[in-house]
Amino acid sequence: MAARSTRILPVQRLRKAPENQSIAEWWATESSRGSPEAAAVAEAAEALRTSDIPVGFPTETVYGLGADATRSSAVQGIYKAKQRPSDNPLIVHVDSIQMIHRILNPKEGKGAASSATRESNLIPPIYQPLISRFWPGPLTILLPNPPDSPLAKEVTANLPTFGVRMPASDFARLLIHVADRPLAAPSANASTKPSPTTAQHVYHDLHGRIDLILDGGPCGVGVESTVVDGLSDPPAVLRPGGIGIEELRSCPGWENVKIGYHDTSLHVKEVPRAPGMKYRHYSPKARVVLFEPGSHSTSVLRYVRDDLRNTAVGLHSIGIVRTKYWIPGLGLASEEQLSQTKKQEPSPPQQNENGNDQLNTSLTPISFDVPIDYDHDISPPPSSLPKTKKVYDLSLGADTESIARGLFSALRTLDELNVDVIYIEGIPDNEGDLAAAVMNRLRKAAEVGVRI
Ligand code: TXA
Ligand code: MG
Repeated sequence: MAARSTRILPVQRLRKAPENQSIAEWWATESSRGSPEAAAVAEAAEALRTSDIPVGFPTETVYGLGADATRSSAVQGIYKAKQRPSDNPLIVHVDSIQMIHRILNPKEGKGAASSATRESNLIPPIYQPLISRFWPGPLTILLPNPPDSPLAKEVTANLPTFGVRMPASDFARLLIHVADRPLAAPSANASTKPSPTTAQHVYHDLHGRIDLILDGGPCGVGVESTVVDGLSDPPAVLRPGGIGIEELRSCPGWENVKIGYHDTSLHVKEVPRAPGMKYRHYSPKARVVLFEPGSHSTSVLRYVRDDLRNTAVGLHSIGIVRTKYWIPGLGLASEEQLSQTKKQEPSPPQQNENGNDQLNTSLTPISFDVPIDYDHDISPPPSSLPKTKKVYDLSLGADTESIARGLFSALRTLDELNVDVIYIEGIPDNEGDLAAAVMNRLRKAAEVGVRI
């Protein structure tokens, strides 16, 4: 396939709809102004309707790689761009309940959408409390796919159901509205890589493979939507994500929601330090070592020092990702080296004059050299061994929201710096919040899970 020239079109100004305007009213004003952002949306919408090359666009969770969910050739384009096998079902993104009704009741046609709304709702009642509480938002529900469904078969991977969500991102709903199609959209990363939370991440993975990336700035949530199945009894969470299980439990009919996903290392043990032993997902090039929460910091420090000394491990540089408790530099840095660290802590989101969140997701690691004290008692180290190794250390902040928001970006940042290994501080995930999604992604990314 000839390389395509990929353009990033800025649309940050359209992050938030004006107060008290519907998406349709907003688009009417915006398109009549003829702004460059409106032109970008119109171009992307046209491509979504007519071409088979998917479009990168922001949602509140992660960037999506969108295609018209009703056209097989367009949906196949997603798999081609991501280089991913087409055996996974894709989430369908809608701008309204009416768009779901058009999928569930295709015969009624567009004009009759309002009569469908007036009739009893076509969506199973179990979902009503979730929809009114969490939509638009990072929650995906499974619905029965009707026999004459307009959805391309590639979207459902031949399952009798489809997953659908209405994104909280006003921009995403605007794009769906203008395209006037339900959009199938997985995360816009290359297969196996961490999910993208900025347009630059999408560009890094997919340039040359797609034509357009709409840049709406960094994503606010940072992990994908929670996927729930309310068609089974009891209902189940199939993927932890932006909405926590405790929030679901507080909804009528969802008190007994069960966990229907497996975390690869729920029972973590020290496992052999052999690379490439397990299927990886969300993974940077570097080896990822995840310390389960509660790993004592002195034991962690001993573990890392052993790795640094161990020439067989062959480390040139290491990355550290701190969350709640680890100290800056993990005890490897001198006081002087640490005096740099204060300014590096991420600040909470702030609002600009338009009321838009200014998310500070630019993670700049502190870096320092650490001297290696080889073990002279066993054998004198050859003089060719490096006397120091480079450490890059970054903090995601202590609250779960900022950890989720910065997680994938941190893995990508350290990968760009070509570290050999990334040590990550895990967080407790038994409180039923976003932490379950964070640990689920980290356990998939990690080659080694450690509890010490
Ligand atoms: O936050 C998100 O949901 C992101 C952004 C871009 O919106 N999208 C996303 O989409 O993660 P995708 O297509 O990668 O999600 C696919 C996952 C599947 O791996 C599965 O867990 C679940 O959604 N899923 C979708 N349809 C399903 C179905 N019919 N039955 C069971 N699970 C389904
Ligand atoms: Mg994904």
